Amino acid sequence: MKLRRGTALLACLAASTVVATAQDLKSPTAGDYVPRLGDIMGAAQARHQKLWLAGRAQNWELAAFELRQLKAGLVEAALLYSGIPVTNVTTLETPLQAAADAIAAKDGRKLAKAFGDLTEGCNGCHRSMGRGFVVMRVPADQQPFGNQAFQPQGKP
Ligand code: HEC
Repeated sequence: MKLRRGTALLACLAASTVVATAQDLKSPTAGDYVPRLGDIMGAAQARHQKLWLAGRAQNWELAAFELRQLKAGLVEAALLYSGIPVTNVTTLETPLQAAADAIAAKDGRKLAKAFGDLTEGCNGCHRSMGRGFVVMRVPADQQPFGNQAFQPQGKP
């Protein structure tokens, strides 16, 4: 009985959180799923790392895809969470564009430079929002994503 009441309370709490977040949306629709900011960021972390690995493997098609996904996630974060200063996202526009240009030019060195700047942008926002303990870095040589092949297909 106690357990049930606790579960109901939790459900209420979750519902009120969703409503509060939904008010921040431009055009909320009942029943829309609103991803938590931390979850959007978790996906951004995965794409940040995959972008790097794909670039290192010179898989430009995959790198371009991961970059698009990463950018879409950051834009989504800014649109869904009005507490995020828009400038924190727009300052990333320069390194994001530089990365896109480097990928289009198949230039690994330029991509590495843009990636470093992009990573600084991640950390700049984290610091400015009291999340300075979330420190992103250019991935070291370990590969946590053992569940995906990063080599371009058809190459040994
Ligand atoms: C516009 C601001 C902003 C930018 C830009 C930003 N973040 Fe975040 N990030 C946040 C905030 C705010 C949190 C904390 C979310 C929370 O408290 O739930 C966060 C949290 C995180 C976390 C921790 C998630 C978890 O649950 O453990 C990771 C990882 C992360 N960000 C990765 C990145 C990466 C990678 C980039 C750059 C590609 C990036 N972030 C860019 C604002 C930002």
